[in-house]
Amino acid sequence: MTALPRLAVLASGRGSNLAAIADACASGAIPAQLALVLCNIEGAGALILARERSIPARCIPHGDFADRAAFDTALAAALEEAGIDFVALAGFMRILTAGFIRQYYGSLLNIHPSLLPKYPGLDTHRRAIEAGDREAGATVHFVTPALDAGPPVLRGRVPVLPDDDADTLARRVQGVEHRIYPLALSWCLSGRVTLQGGRAFKDGEPIGEGGIDFDGEHGSGDLAQQA
Ligand code: GRF
Repeated sequence: MTALPRLAVLASGRGSNLAAIADACASGAIPAQLALVLCNIEGAGALILARERSIPARCIPHGDFADRAAFDTALAAALEEAGIDFVALAGFMRILTAGFIRQYYGSLLNIHPSLLPKYPGLDTHRRAIEAGDREAGATVHFVTPALDAGPPVLRGRVPVLPDDDADTLARRVQGVEHRIYPLALSWCLSGRVTLQGGRAFKDGEPIGEGGIDFDGEHGSGDLAQQA
């Protein structure tokens, strides 16, 4: 039997996506070993969660480094030391340097809480509400040097309800995040989804500009079938 690919999750916050990914690795739905969690904030929920679940975890505070490049060099060294094959950003609140991103080109995913290309950057839920959008969501995409602009893989939509504020909308979007991120990772780690020449492919077919719609033919059953 060949060894499973080794997955790392980089997180700065609560770690709810990390929890969903850890569950999916444990059940076999994601064909990978969750081999490392890296966090830049001491005391972050993600770090506590990793330690509670006995997932190897390290805190690398960005403030300890002179600049972004030095911080990213430390991240890359930790990933290399742990023999990491694939990296998932899950609420990692640092912008990575182009050098780091090039090193993990095609093996680096992020989840962004909007229907990209709408609302790259911060405050996505408030911006969606203020714009009067009727739907919001999250997008899993490959990371390239352009912020939140790498090729999308999978997106999940939720309605924006009349009484929503940024917090209620964020909670609804997170519900779908916890379903689409493990599914997109299962596709990447099984080799079904790849990044080639700046485009994402699934099963050899180019993925459309906004990514695959979670509500479409690749619904939640897809992940359950692999479990
Ligand atoms: C998520 O909303 C994700 O889309 C964004 O950061 C948040 C992380 O939440 N990139 P959590 O730490 O996984 O709960």
